[in-house]
Amino acid sequence: MRRQQVELMIESLKNEARDRLVVDLSAKVATLSTDLTCLMVFGKKYMDEDLDKRGFKAVLQEAVHLSVTPNLGDFFPFLGVIDLQGLTRRLKDLSKVFDDFLEKIIDEHVQSYDQKQSKDFVDILLDIMQSGDTEFQFDRIRIKALLFDMLIAATDTSSTSIDWILTELLRHPHVMKKLQKELEQVVGLERMVKESDLENLKYLDMVVKEGMRLHSVVPISQREAREDCVVDGFHIRKGSRIMINNYAVQRDPNVWSEPEKFLPERFVGSSIDVRGHDFQLLPFSAGRRSCPAVELGIIIVRLAVAQLMHCFDWELPSDMEPCDLNLDEHFGLVTSREKHLMVIPTYRLNE
Ligand code: HEM
Repeated sequence: MRRQQVELMIESLKNEARDRLVVDLSAKVATLSTDLTCLMVFGKKYMDEDLDKRGFKAVLQEAVHLSVTPNLGDFFPFLGVIDLQGLTRRLKDLSKVFDDFLEKIIDEHVQSYDQKQSKDFVDILLDIMQSGDTEFQFDRIRIKALLFDMLIAATDTSSTSIDWILTELLRHPHVMKKLQKELEQVVGLERMVKESDLENLKYLDMVVKEGMRLHSVVPISQREAREDCVVDGFHIRKGSRIMINNYAVQRDPNVWSEPEKFLPERFVGSSIDVRGHDFQLLPFSAGRRSCPAVELGIIIVRLAVAQLMHCFDWELPSDMEPCDLNLDEHFGLVTSREKHLMVIPTYRLNE
């Protein structure tokens, strides 16, 4: 399924490359990510308008934006009633959009339940609900919450990670060339990249790590202290809310040399990894509430970046120089590019 969807993206880019068109690469990657998530979680793809006329990307971005916007009502409860910033109203509108969409998905699954050959994620959740075999109440509302969580957690994180790595490759043509060289040696120009190639692409691994270090897609993690404890001499009271600034950690000059620079080579001979054991690199966070899909997330990011770099050469439009690329970030739970990445592809495989 992952192979098919990535190949579909490559196919559409190939057509645009033929006509030398400027393509919105951020939009292509966002569509890939939404399609992969819908297939994994709901068992089929949905069109943008199935969710809302604004489309998946815009609605999901609104959700991740609102979820971290400070609400005065949280600090001064009497202001909560007035909803000065209009956040409660916007969240209620958004909640209705998602609720209608998820209700439709559950209904579709209930109707086709008996004819299914293989079960998807929603079918399995329905099984659990019907079995009544849980230690806690597990009803339709819980299923919707889980599906919503998966949709939010999987879609924007993957596409934003890919988007930033591609941005850095475009800003550093010599790194892009070096990566393409590795792809030529390991895969060859006669075929596309397969997932089984990924473990042999050592430089790709460094490029992905460095992109994720420099652009902390989830810049802040939140935790709650379950018991009184002391960390580095600080007493942390049970129930305290802890905000971990992943962005600052990953650019900490005490840990990283030249932290603002994109230098994949810094990982040569290093065992630092993204899986939450090395606290200086936390793209998937760490501990019990870290990302449960690290392996999947890493495969999606590596495969998409490798395939795009292997199949195409990339140019910036309108004589733009690599250093002119806009790096502004969009505020939200997930920090994406403010402006979309616009590029001209040239197909480079021998076919
Ligand atoms: C490159 C892609 C991804 C990145 C960078 C990423 C990053 C993260 C991070 C940092 C967290 C923890 C947030 C915190 O500390 O509070 C998280 C949680 C989570 N992620 Fe991912 N993620 C990615 C892909 C995915 C995918 C593909 C899925 C699902 C298919 C997924 C499902 C989840 C879920 C369900 C949680 C919440 C876990 C909980 O609440 O305990 N993620 N992710």
